[in-house]
Amino acid sequence: MRQQEAQAAQAVQGEHVTAQVRETGEIPLSRSASWQRTVWCGDLRAEHAGQQVVLNGWVAHRRDHGGLIFVDLRDRSGIVQVVFDPQIDAEAFRVAESLRAEYVVAVTGLVRRRAPGMANPKLATGEIEVEGHKLEVLSKAKTPPFPLDRPLQVDENLRLRYRYLDLRRPEMQAGLILRHRLAQRARQYLNARGFLEIETPMLTRSTPEGARDFLVPSRLNPGTFYALPQSPQLFKQLLVMGGLERYYQIVRCFRDEDLRADRQPEFTQIDIEMSFPTREDVLQLAEGLMAELLDEAGIEVKRPFPRLSYKEAMLRYGSDKPDLRFGLEIQDVSDLFEQSSVQVFARAVATGGVVRALVLPGGKELSRRELDELVELAPRWGVPGLIWIIVEESGLRSPVVKYMSEGEQIALRERLRAKTGDLICMMAGAEGKVAPAMGRLRLHLAEKRNLIPASRWEFLWVLDFPLLEWNEEERRLQAVHHPFTSPVEEDLELLESEPLKVRANAYDMVLNGVELGGGSIRNHRRDVQERLFALLGIGPEEAQEKFGFLLEALEYGAPPHGGIAFGFDRVVMLLAGKETIRDVIAFPKTQSGTDPLTGAPAAVDPRQLAELHIICHG
Ligand code: AMO
Repeated sequence: MRQQEAQAAQAVQGEHVTAQVRETGEIPLSRSASWQRTVWCGDLRAEHAGQQVVLNGWVAHRRDHGGLIFVDLRDRSGIVQVVFDPQIDAEAFRVAESLRAEYVVAVTGLVRRRAPGMANPKLATGEIEVEGHKLEVLSKAKTPPFPLDRPLQVDENLRLRYRYLDLRRPEMQAGLILRHRLAQRARQYLNARGFLEIETPMLTRSTPEGARDFLVPSRLNPGTFYALPQSPQLFKQLLVMGGLERYYQIVRCFRDEDLRADRQPEFTQIDIEMSFPTREDVLQLAEGLMAELLDEAGIEVKRPFPRLSYKEAMLRYGSDKPDLRFGLEIQDVSDLFEQSSVQVFARAVATGGVVRALVLPGGKELSRRELDELVELAPRWGVPGLIWIIVEESGLRSPVVKYMSEGEQIALRERLRAKTGDLICMMAGAEGKVAPAMGRLRLHLAEKRNLIPASRWEFLWVLDFPLLEWNEEERRLQAVHHPFTSPVEEDLELLESEPLKVRANAYDMVLNGVELGGGSIRNHRRDVQERLFALLGIGPEEAQEKFGFLLEALEYGAPPHGGIAFGFDRVVMLLAGKETIRDVIAFPKTQSGTDPLTGAPAAVDPRQLAELHIICHG
C-alpha cells in the first residue's frame, strides 16, 4: 500500500472498528498506539461485558460520588459512563480527579454491567459502564462559554463564534449526519438513473436568478470581475447541449439577498438537468428523489404528489407555496357583493378587485382584543383592513353587519358553510394585494390556534406559473423563474401581445409550506430565447454580450431539455425538524451575512486591493 493509502485507511479505521463490533460483538484488542480507540463509546452494549476496551473522546460530565469518579465520555457515536475507583487503579483515579468538561482523553478499561437498578434507560449504553484502568489526558480544555450538555438557550452569535464547540452537541451532529446520509442517498438515486455528477465553475459570469451577484475581482484582467454562480443554470444547460444527457451536482450557490431563516448567502442545491424530457419525466424523477430522501429519514410519503396551478394556489391558499397540513381555505365571494352597501366590498368589485373570505372554525373564542389585533396586522400584510364576522346562534355579529342586507348575510354563510361559533375573516381590494394578505392571515391564524400538525408531510407541485411578471418599481417585465424557462407551447403566440398571460413550462415543489425546489423545461430554440430576452428589456446587443455563448450554443443542435434544483439545506432542515437552515449547515452566516467565527467579511490589506486594481472610497 502506498503511504497515502495507508493513512487514509488509518483515518477510517474507527468505522471499521464499529462494523466489526456490530457484526461479531467482539472488540479488537491491538491497535497501533496504545491510546487509540478500539471501540466507539456509543457502540457498547451489555453483550460486551467482560471485554477490554480503549475509548477516545471528550469529557461530557464528571461527578464525584461516594469515593468514586463517574465520567460521561462522549464521542460522535454517543456517551458511555466510565467509573474510576481508587481501589482498582489509584493512578487512573488521580488523573480522573483533574478532569474537567471537554478534556480529551483516552481510557483503557473493562466493560461491565451496571449494578442492579443502576441502568440508565435514557442512554443507549445505559446497561453497562466501563471500569477505568488507565486514563490519559490527550488535550486540556478551558471552560466552554456555554454548556454543551443541556438544551440550548444560548445566543446564536455565541454559538457561531464557538461553532466547533456547538458542533460537539449531539443534536448538531445528528443534523449533519442526516445531511451526509441524504446527500449519499441522493447520489445513489441519481447514479442509478444514469445521471453523471459533473462540477461547474465557481468563478464565472452572472447567472440571473433574481438576486444580486457576489463579485470577485480579477487580478490578471484589471477592471473585470467574475461572479460567483447564483446557480449552475447555464452550465447545466450547456452540459446537456454538450451531449452529456443527464447531469447532477450537489453544489454551492451564492446569492447576495436579504437573509431569513431559510435563506443563506451561500447554500447548497441538488441540481439536475436532463435532455429529451417531458415535463412529466422531470416531475416523476423529482418525486422519486424526494420519496427516497424521506425514506432515508424514516418517513413514508404518498405519491403522486398533489398538483395545483399557480392561480388556484393563490386563490385557495394565498401563496405560491401553500402549507397543506391544515385547511382554512380561502374563498372568493366577490360575486355576492357587487351591489353591496358595504362600501369597501362594492368599491373593490366595481374597480376590478376581489372580496375574499376564510372561516376559522370555533373562532368565536377569539377575544375582542385578538380580533382588533387581526385588523391592526392587515396593513403589515399589505392591505388597509380586515373585516371580521362572528356567526352567532341569532345571526352574524360584526361592525359591518348593519350595512349587509339579509340576503347577503345568508348567501355569505351558505357559500362559506360557516357554522355557529365560527369566525369569518374578509378582505377586499386588488387581487394582487388581497390574495397574499389572505395567505398571511391563513398562516397567522393556523399558528396562533396551533392548527399545524408537526408530523405531517404534505408535498405539492405548483404548476402553470406565469412566465413573466410586472416589476412596478423598475417599470418593466421580469421573469418569474429565470429567463431560460420556456413558455407553454400553446401560449407562444401571446408572447408579444399579452405577455402577462403566457404560462411558463415551470414547476415548484413545496413541502409543508416551504419551497423545496423549482425548475422548468428550457428554451432550446434560439428564436424563442431571443424573443424572451427582448421582452425582458435585454436588447440584441446586451443579449449577445451577456449570453452570446448560450445563444450560439442553441444554434449547434441543442436538444430539448429541462431540469430542477432543490434547496438541499431546506430539505435537511425539514427532515431534521429544525426551524432554520443554519442548524444544518456546519458553518453558516448570521442573518446579517457575517461569520462570527472567522470574522468574515473583513477589511483587507490596501496592497491586496491595489493588486486587484480596486480603489476604495470612504
Ligand atoms: P431557484 O432559484 O428556485 O431555481 O432555486 C432552487 C431552490 O434553491 C433554494 N434556494 C435557497 N436556499 C437557501 N438559501 C437561499 N438563498 C436560496 N435561494 C434558493 C430553494 C429553491 O427552491 N436554476 C434554477 C433551477 C432550475 O431551473 O433548474 C434555480 O436555481 O429551495
